Amino acid sequence: MSTLIKGADLLGRGRADVLVRDGRVAEIGTLTAPAGAETVDADGLILLPGLVDLHTHLREPGREDAETVLTGTQAAAKGGYTAVCAMANSYPVADTAGVVEQVAALGRAAGYADVQPIGAVSIGLAGERLAELGAMADSAARVRIFSDDGHCVHDPRLMRRALEYVKTFGGLIAQHAEEPRLTEGAEMNEGAVSAELGLPGWPSVAEEAIVARDVLLAEYVGSRVHFCHISTARTVEIIREAKARGVDVTAEVCPHHLLLTDEAAHSYDPVFKVNPPLRTDRDVAALRAALAEGVVDAVATDHAPHAPQDKDCEWAAARPGMLGLETALSITVAALGGPEDCDWDTVAERTSRAPARIASLPGHGRDPEPGAEANLTLVDPSESWTVVPSELASLSQNTPYAGMELPVTVQATFLRGRATVLDGKLVEETE
Ligand code: DOR
Ligand code: ZN
Repeated sequence: MSTLIKGADLLGRGRADVLVRDGRVAEIGTLTAPAGAETVDADGLILLPGLVDLHTHLREPGREDAETVLTGTQAAAKGGYTAVCAMANSYPVADTAGVVEQVAALGRAAGYADVQPIGAVSIGLAGERLAELGAMADSAARVRIFSDDGHCVHDPRLMRRALEYVKTFGGLIAQHAEEPRLTEGAEMNEGAVSAELGLPGWPSVAEEAIVARDVLLAEYVGSRVHFCHISTARTVEIIREAKARGVDVTAEVCPHHLLLTDEAAHSYDPVFKVNPPLRTDRDVAALRAALAEGVVDAVATDHAPHAPQDKDCEWAAARPGMLGLETALSITVAALGGPEDCDWDTVAERTSRAPARIASLPGHGRDPEPGAEANLTLVDPSESWTVVPSELASLSQNTPYAGMELPVTVQATFLRGRATVLDGKLVEETE
């Protein structure tokens, strides 16, 4: 099976044709389609390495009313993703080889994106005893990232043990940084808006205190550490300083923290409730600058689908989290200056190459070059779109961007050479 991608803009290399054969890039140049090849007209489109998400809640097993591996990876493909890392807070929790293998198998059966399970750090995400990290790493799912996301690994002794353990096989702990004693009962960012609305606040220092502690722990143990969804200006400074000292630390930022602020809570619409919460203009500006600069390594969606009964209720009763997969690229481009002015190579680095490196996914995050797996995304930089929740591929509709016009569209996504999205639409038949 071969496909000729005709006349795409290849980052830094100008316009070229890319021939994909048997799942890999075969040739790049001025090419004519071989007999039997399909041709995809990529005139005016940018060819990116397929996007990689470090932080996706697929909700299966256990909450198939909110999302399934199939619908979540369909949303991923529509967003330009070729690989997603599935968070461990499913029911049952992904804390054994059996559950991570099941999630990986569901991903293969769906066929829309590679699904790399993340294993829990602690049994049942309870923060007390280490889960079977080695068994998950040795399993067919080859787990490399471990996270209790949704919860912080707040016991410093457990965190130390986890960092020491994964170091032996090149694994990574991804920390949801939240000192739980500082966020008890919290509903939104602590600041002027929470005071005005009378909602209990989630202080930024609850994140920063854990990030600072874990930088020190990782440095002491000589392990690497990754921070999920960082959300404050001060966290950026702690990470900047840690990197300058040579600590092996990486961090991700979510699209919503690059665009929205706690002012959105004035609506009392729970679609804006998320953990960590939306912060202030100052934080948004610091995160954008850190993303452009590389202090923040990657954009990760924290795609958190929720069923209507968990969101269409009053703010305090609603679960935190928002959809992300289908809007992440648009918002990243907007946050990096817009389709005309952003550096597309930085877009590729933060949404694809860096997350693929962090997740140890060598087949992903590779620019098209002969021999590389053809995990690729074609983007139209000149077309914008309006977010209509009911038109999203996700099973849930809790997007905070409903009705917003966003820049750039994903025209095609190729997973090992096979189109999962063409002409901006899902290819329904996957074999
Ligand atoms: O807002 C959030 N939602 N933050 C998390 O850490 C977990 C996630 C979820 O699972 O819904
Ligand atoms: Zn989290």
